[in-house]
Amino acid sequence: MWTPVILDILFTASLVTATHSHKRETSDYDWSSITPSKQLKYHDCYDGYTCARLQVPLDWQNPENYSQSVAIAIVTLPATVPNTSASFGGTVLINPGGPSGSGTDMALELGHYLQETFDGERHYEILGFDPRGVAFSTPRADCYSGDEIRRAVDQLQSTGIPSPKLGPTTLEYLYQSHLGASRLCAEADDGSIFAHMSTASVARDMLEIVERVDELKHTASNSSIQARSKKPNLQYYGVSYGTYLGNTFASMFPDRIGRMVIDGVEDPHDYLKGTWEKNLNDFEKVLDHFYKTCFEAGVECPLKKDSDRSAGAIRERVSSFLNNLEVSPVSAVYQGRASLVTSLLVRTLIHTALYSPITKYESLSIALAESLAGNHTLVLENSAVDLESACEIKNVTYPAESYSWSDNAASGILCGDSALDAGNRSLTWARDIVDTLYEQSPTAGEAWTKIPLSCVGWNFKPNFLFRGPFGSSAQSVKGSNHTSNAPLLVISNRYDHATPLANAYAVSQSHAGSTVVVQESFGHCALLTSRSNCTANIVSEYFNTGRIPEHGTVCEQDCIPSIPFKACPGLPDYS
Ligand SMILES: *[C@@H]1O[C@H](CO)[C@@H](O)[C@H](O)[C@H]1NC(C)=O
Ligand SMILES: *[C@@H]1O[C@H](CO)[C@@H](O)[C@H](O)[C@H]1NC(C)=O
Ligand SMILES: *[C@@H]1O[C@H](CO)[C@@H](O)[C@H](O)[C@H]1NC(C)=O
Ligand SMILES: *[C@@H]1O[C@H](CO)[C@@H](O)[C@H](O)[C@H]1NC(C)=O
Ligand SMILES: *[C@@H]1O[C@H](CO)[C@@H](O)[C@H](O)[C@H]1NC(C)=O
Ligand SMILES: *[C@@H]1O[C@H](CO)[C@@H](O)[C@H](O)[C@H]1NC(C)=O
Ligand SMILES: *[C@@H]1O[C@H](CO)[C@@H](O)[C@H](O)[C@H]1NC(C)=O
Ligand SMILES: *[C@@H]1O[C@H](CO)[C@@H](O)[C@H](O)[C@H]1NC(C)=O
Repeated sequence: MWTPVILDILFTASLVTATHSHKRETSDYDWSSITPSKQLKYHDCYDGYTCARLQVPLDWQNPENYSQSVAIAIVTLPATVPNTSASFGGTVLINPGGPSGSGTDMALELGHYLQETFDGERHYEILGFDPRGVAFSTPRADCYSGDEIRRAVDQLQSTGIPSPKLGPTTLEYLYQSHLGASRLCAEADDGSIFAHMSTASVARDMLEIVERVDELKHTASNSSIQARSKKPNLQYYGVSYGTYLGNTFASMFPDRIGRMVIDGVEDPHDYLKGTWEKNLNDFEKVLDHFYKTCFEAGVECPLKKDSDRSAGAIRERVSSFLNNLEVSPVSAVYQGRASLVTSLLVRTLIHTALYSPITKYESLSIALAESLAGNHTLVLENSAVDLESACEIKNVTYPAESYSWSDNAASGILCGDSALDAGNRSLTWARDIVDTLYEQSPTAGEAWTKIPLSCVGWNFKPNFLFRGPFGSSAQSVKGSNHTSNAPLLVISNRYDHATPLANAYAVSQSHAGSTVVVQESFGHCALLTSRSNCTANIVSEYFNTGRIPEHGTVCEQDCIPSIPFKACPGLPDYS
């Protein structure tokens, strides 16, 4: 989520990666100037990148039929050496999670950083693609067909719904609201995308990208198809939901893994059930780290009072503020509108900030301090439905980081993936989930319930689903080089508030030879939240040689989050 718009019906504070509020200066690019093609055809775009629109079948169960197809938007950052050079290391595909995050945006935002991290003796090109339905890929998974005003009105309506904890009736409001949103998508559907957005389809699209990149290479060197002795392998870095995508690819095509790094790991079984119960397990620990950082900052932290004798005192004050707000919301005037300030808004703000402790602890401490003191401007700034851009009469496609239909695209993917369990999504099911998530995280449970509840009433059943078994068996020898087919490298922060470390160990267990690297840091996804030369060296060595370290290797971080904000050299330019 590079920039979150917090009240989008579900997502924003979901699995998407680090918050990244700085805006690129690059100009927009007219994607319609590229005609989609079955071969990869690159065009210069943005500044120093190449763009392509790869045409793939809508339905991979019927792959010869291109009468309905999808155009996958691709942005590639070329390697720092010519792709004909002996030290060219090939292409690394990336995915930012979401599940509706834009890979083209990730390539533009983080491409150089990732390239510097991966490069060693070999030099890599970084390829970001928008999964089907997402951002610049077409057709769009948009239940409002680009009508931003209808979208904003529905978002506004959903902001007034009280917390589902307040009683059976309030849960019914929430339940019906999500049911209605699903019905809207069912009515809007023209058969062109929503039933074909499963992660299995996206994994197959990735294989297609790998094949077409390889084809391009051989076309350029005039070698015949027969001369392509080896099947090309995927090289991949995926975060958050992108770890589920990687896990799916590795399990569907286990002999096509060249290199795979997954960072901030999603539990595949929980994800498939659509219950989202394996995410918040470490949330309160990360939050406690924020309070501790604030307490130790002393007068520098606006949230700390002189009378506070411990970090726990700050926690208590914020908790009781949130709990009061849950029962008694307040109103505030913001941008000429009367807005409700609910506990959900503030909880979502907290959840979002914890994605990136280094860049967000300070602003979180300011926003909370002001809100506790009765000034809700910063909270609303982070969450108000953006009426201004809804009313602009233009087809907003830029920046892709906050494209307007990302909630619908997320539902298409995650609700489609869990379609076989859709029959269970009754009011009782919703009650159980709400109870579980609140118990797991008293602070963020309320905000998180929106993800599972968004699939209530979702009736698209993709005909192409992968539901396991998850796993692969690389022929690996620890400590040795792998020219191809390396085992997976699984990395995680010690405390990740959206994908706990336990998930990394569980997933690693199913992929033979894989190892877990633990980075001693907080927030969501190791490479995105802090700088650690140790982690970076392991990742680079892995890409260059296929070597993986001992299972359970621990890496210190080179920067620590602080209040006030201190920049972390080597991390991309967050602001
Ligand atoms: C291809 O797909 C289209 C749209 O789904 C369908 O109308 C057509 O019959 C299909 N053609 C074949 C040969 O399967
Ligand atoms: C916006 O652009 C997309 C892609 O070019 C197009 O499909 C869509 O119809 C346009 N929407 C509006 C409201 O003009
Ligand atoms: C290699 O780089 C050249 C020049 O940038 C480009 O035209 C060509 O498409 C690239 N080849 C592959 C296989 O990516
Ligand atoms: C590939 O073949 C074409 C025509 O057969 C020739 O003009 C071109 O120079 C060749 N390219 C390379 C890289 O050998
Ligand atoms: C409320 O907070 C905003 C943002 O920090 C600030 O600009 C404004 O002056 C504050 N209002 C009052 C009345 O203090
Ligand atoms: C409902 O959940 C149960 C237990 O997880 C599962 O066995 C069953 O298949 C599910 N039924 C439907 C219709 O989704
Ligand atoms: C592994 O790769 C590294 C870097 O390319 C090289 O220096 C080393 O000799 C290789 N080791 C073996 C056992 O092949
Ligand atoms: C990490 O590596 C960079 C670049 O090689 C170096 O400048 C920096 O001092 C290193 N940091 C630590 C903590 O070792």
